[in-house]
Amino acid sequence: MKNTRIKVVMNPITRREIIGAGVAGLAAAATTKSAFANTQKPVEPLSGKANPDGRFKDKVVLITGATSGIGKTTAYAFAKEGAKVFFCGRRTNLGEANAREIQAFGGEATYVQADVTKERDVRDFVNGCVEKYGRIDIAFNNAGIESSPHTIADTSLEDWMRVMTTNATGVFLSMKYELPIMLRQKGGVIVNNASVSSHVGFATISPYNASKHAVLSLTKVAALEYTDKNIRVNSVSPGAVDTPMLRRALAAWKTDFETVSQDYPLKRIVNPEEIARTVMWLSSDDASCIIGMDVDATGGYLTK
Ligand SMILES: NC(=O)c1ccc[n+]([C@@H]2O[C@H](COP(=O)([O-])OP(=O)(O)OC[C@H]3O[C@@H](n4cnc5c(N)ncnc54)[C@H](OP(=O)(O)O)[C@@H]3O)[C@@H](O)[C@H]2O)c1
Repeated sequence: MKNTRIKVVMNPITRREIIGAGVAGLAAAATTKSAFANTQKPVEPLSGKANPDGRFKDKVVLITGATSGIGKTTAYAFAKEGAKVFFCGRRTNLGEANAREIQAFGGEATYVQADVTKERDVRDFVNGCVEKYGRIDIAFNNAGIESSPHTIADTSLEDWMRVMTTNATGVFLSMKYELPIMLRQKGGVIVNNASVSSHVGFATISPYNASKHAVLSLTKVAALEYTDKNIRVNSVSPGAVDTPMLRRALAAWKTDFETVSQDYPLKRIVNPEEIARTVMWLSSDDASCIIGMDVDATGGYLTK
């Protein structure tokens, strides 16, 4: 019999070991053929023109890291429902193109180049939103990067600092400058983008894992400090979402959508629109009593 060796590799976005090639394929096939597979359709992207009288009419929404992926989709979704969106990212060509596209479907959006690892950039970005739109009703602190797969001993200090400074310090700095504005205007809502990696350990991604645990901690502390000031702070935890980040990570880990999705009870990769809708729900008055919570948007991973 050919190729009887079993190769075991760690899949860094799940805690499981994946048993290579044939065996993994069999396991996947057994699961996907279940008569009880989840067949609920993911939410559709909001289509057509923006509705100026939508659910977020006149709300000012600030988003960090909306040049691509979840941030971009969330910016589009808020704009479709009538919000004025003020967003950043480092890649000006993408940011300006996204703002033009939002304006083309009748939405309101402004892109500003800002790097969340730089205090001055964050301060000017947040203050720029108030100068342009007068206030910040909702802030989605989303900007983040992945780390390359290494055990702790093989992780460079540079990689550790790069990821921690973006994912953890970036959220800290964003809230540091958003909260005084929300205090001044006597209210607001903040949603931080956490991760499945905020809750459990994943081998080979210590900087990402630690940074995302920090996001949960910052969310809880902010909720305790500001709830009585009429500011609601929560987070969302995506699992595996189809974005450029996930595609880069899967390539680095030499795995694929099919293999990874088998470790989630939902048995599929989530789309960014589903995370956008979760963020919008958390930002809306429908979530008025949700305080300091993290919403598991992984497709069931954290229930295991
Ligand atoms: N995709 C997933 O499966 C998944 C799962 C769990 C959590 N998340 C979280 O979701 C968030 C968004 O990730 P994504 O999957 O949408 O990835 P993505 O497509 O790579 O988007 C990341 C965004 O963050 C921005 N960003 C990165 N570093 C920045 C910096 N220093 N300053 C300002 N903006 C910065 C990027 O813009 P520029 O490059 O233009 O700066 C980009 O707009 C991240 O916090 C990530 O950890 C994603």
